[in-house]
Amino acid sequence: MHSIKEILSDEFIGKQVTVHGWVYRTRSSGKIAFVVLRDSSGIVQSVANISTLGDEKFKVISSLGIESSVELQGTVKKDDRAITGYEIEVTGYKVYQRNESFPITKDKGEEFLLDNRHLWLRSQEFSAVLKVRSTVFKAFADFFYSEGYYQVQAPFMVSTATEGGTTLFKVPFFGSEVSLTQSAQFYLETMIFSLEKVFTISPSFRAEKSRTWRHLTEYWHGEAEVAWVDNSGMMDIEERMIHFIIRRVLEENLPELAILGRDAGDLRRWTEPFLRMTYSDLIKGAQETGMNIRYGDDLGSDEEKQIMIHYDRPVFVTHYPKELKTFYHRPDPENPGELLCHDLLAPEGYGEIIGGSERIWDPEQLKERMEEYKLNPEDYYWYMDLRKYGSVPHSGFGLGLDRAIMWICKLDNIKNAIPFPRTIRRTKP
Ligand code: 4AD
Ligand code: MG
Repeated sequence: MHSIKEILSDEFIGKQVTVHGWVYRTRSSGKIAFVVLRDSSGIVQSVANISTLGDEKFKVISSLGIESSVELQGTVKKDDRAITGYEIEVTGYKVYQRNESFPITKDKGEEFLLDNRHLWLRSQEFSAVLKVRSTVFKAFADFFYSEGYYQVQAPFMVSTATEGGTTLFKVPFFGSEVSLTQSAQFYLETMIFSLEKVFTISPSFRAEKSRTWRHLTEYWHGEAEVAWVDNSGMMDIEERMIHFIIRRVLEENLPELAILGRDAGDLRRWTEPFLRMTYSDLIKGAQETGMNIRYGDDLGSDEEKQIMIHYDRPVFVTHYPKELKTFYHRPDPENPGELLCHDLLAPEGYGEIIGGSERIWDPEQLKERMEEYKLNPEDYYWYMDLRKYGSVPHSGFGLGLDRAIMWICKLDNIKNAIPFPRTIRRTKP
């Protein structure tokens, strides 16, 4: 048994092979049939001859519908006219399942493709996204292991909000209620006191009412937290992490990038240093491009898109006004109206993929900020305790993995970066 990718090589010319896969397309001229087969590794053309197979067997193979599952035996030939440069001359085959037709054809609309996502996953485009996704998840973990971090896990059912009450999903819980986690951050913060450097990859849940091209209600979150590091040190780590992920994708996924229409040169540019600027300078720059925006305005999907269309590499934006972010970011001691926080905005209009900051580590200051946000410090007693017993300066961040994948794969909607998107209107399939 061979994979298709394996046999697409001069070494296999003249050799007898067996491959498994699904019919990608067929064409028959009565005496000769071309069956293009795909497996997870690639596609290859095979040619079936009535003279080799006999009438009966030829009839079956030449009338297989798309996505029928088969095993082919045959000899490898080089053929420049074949789709991937080689061809299998079929000597025998076995049909596992014969389909008459496949529901997905070229002219299907977006909703149809979403209803049939379980089948659409087989498309070349989606398979390419899934492969890049696999690389990104592994690279995220590999990067942190390579820098001496520990992987940890936090609960998904929680009773404290990290990112504000408006996007919490409530779930019944034995006569009371819990929420689905928005971020593992607070739990990661507890663990730096034993491990100093920790990371996790887990789903986060946001009851987002906004239906935008970059919001899911359930998304995959890569987060890290580290002791003794300040806001700018944190950005250094994140920049190395994104560089590491991009280099991995370049090493592993050039064919997939080509299928997706993403120029590898774009990725090479993102392995160079990122830009860093304050929120205030970002706004000034945006005003110079003619955008109607003022200091203090929140940056949503539309604003970030408009701003980031003008950049060809990622930008760290720091020092947001404190009104724009939640309570745990540390105010800048030089200018307490602004925070020692950062978002990483991806170029080409993609916008925020990371939110991170230096955390408030002084107990009094944290209490004050919680009161400003009308939060009850008692509900967060365990989070407050971290500031009472051996508190240390520390920082952390969260990367929206689906957003990063959307950007790297040059997709126009986050729904196409995750196999089964969950949005306000969709929980199926
Ligand atoms: O900026 P956010 O809300 O920050 C936090 O949750 C921090 N507690 C993370 C931390 O410091 N550990 O979310 C972080 C990232 C965003 O930059 C974005 O990429 C992604 O998570 N994200 C979403 N992705 C898809 N759909 C949504 N609804 C998202 N909300 C946030
Ligand atoms: Mg954010």
